[in-house]
Amino acid sequence: MQRVAAFKQWFADSFPFDPNLLKEISSEPIPNHLKRWWYAIGGTPLYLFVIQATTGIILTFYYVPDPAEAYNSVMHITTQVRFGWFLRSIHKWSAHLMVMAVMLHVIRVFFTAAYRKPRELNWMFGVGLLMVTLGFGFTGYSLIYEQISYWAAVVGTNVAEATPLVGGLLADFIRGGPEVGDNTLTRFFVLHIGVLPTVMVLLLAMHVVQIRLHGVTHLRHEGEDTPSVELSVRVSAPVSPVRPQGGEAAAVQEEERVKEESYPFFPDHFYTELIVGLSLTFLLTILALIYPAHMGDPANPLVTPEHIKPEWFFYATFRWLKLTSFQVGVVGTMVFLGILLFWPFIDRALVRRWPGRDVSFWLGVIGFLGFLIFTVWEAMV
Ligand code: HEM
Repeated sequence: MQRVAAFKQWFADSFPFDPNLLKEISSEPIPNHLKRWWYAIGGTPLYLFVIQATTGIILTFYYVPDPAEAYNSVMHITTQVRFGWFLRSIHKWSAHLMVMAVMLHVIRVFFTAAYRKPRELNWMFGVGLLMVTLGFGFTGYSLIYEQISYWAAVVGTNVAEATPLVGGLLADFIRGGPEVGDNTLTRFFVLHIGVLPTVMVLLLAMHVVQIRLHGVTHLRHEGEDTPSVELSVRVSAPVSPVRPQGGEAAAVQEEERVKEESYPFFPDHFYTELIVGLSLTFLLTILALIYPAHMGDPANPLVTPEHIKPEWFFYATFRWLKLTSFQVGVVGTMVFLGILLFWPFIDRALVRRWPGRDVSFWLGVIGFLGFLIFTVWEAMV
């Protein structure tokens, strides 16, 4: 018994961590509307990223980032390595679901206007996360080194080359030369398993710290003091900065109200996320079993395929580039990204100029439908 106590003391001295701190950190009150998955959808890409990282590390044991060997090593994983096909399929499907989940999360944040003050910076970190997620998709697809993915990389790097001012430099940096060649695969590999995961983890840390510092947005009906998710989800306001006028009694009343509108992170929200995580694991397993990742023909840099297809999440951009001249298409895409990045400030200017007119909401609807139409259009070609 004495030994156990001595060990406990030794451990406490060596690792002076206060468990109460953990309790305090995890006792953040969560607004009631986050009981619905749609509002708490940000947790889904987080979970899928963990799956991606775990399966990706195991795949890296077998993958060879050399143009002469890459395709064969993926074939080896798929046909020879025990459960290799399953790992590869889970990695592939969770990548698709992660992109989908991030997009849905952006839609939910946009249409609940949760990017408004004081969360502008967190929205911008979010745009960084979106770019990194798409970067994972682009570089990962090219690693297989099959004909379609090789040529998608050629088109992708040509798009980078058409960027005004820095295009040449950027494309040379990504390709490691004037064309997609031997150096390119190594660079995509380093980006995919080193640079992007590091940036992702850093951005995620900043994203989550900001969520923790601000708390999650409570939704309020316009002009009302009480939140009303059912009536309107478009107007958002932070809970904590609301300082009620009217002294101690009003402050207590406000505190009571916040308590009524919230539930504890641990264990309630934790369980919600756990159920979502288990359901996703089930879904991924089913997808991997029914639609396992397959392989196309190996890359042939000398033969341009009749139809070049990027991954579905680049369909809209691809269609847009086909409709316009390449240069105009690239500049248009950059303008769109700029608008997305600075959206909280653009929205503020729109609200000031046309108060109560929901201009941002309708612009969001147009943007979303445009993306959907271009994606379906490209998918049908
Ligand atoms: C890997 C990608 C991402 C992860 C893992 C992630 C994770 C999260 C989580 C867990 C939340 C808490 C609320 C919720 O669960 O929905 C959240 C909130 C938020 N996210 Fe993300 N996010 C990601 C990408 C993005 C993107 C792309 C944007 C915007 C462009 C964004 C903007 C925001 C904002 C503004 C909030 C605060 C919402 C509120 O207060 O209601 N996030 N995110």
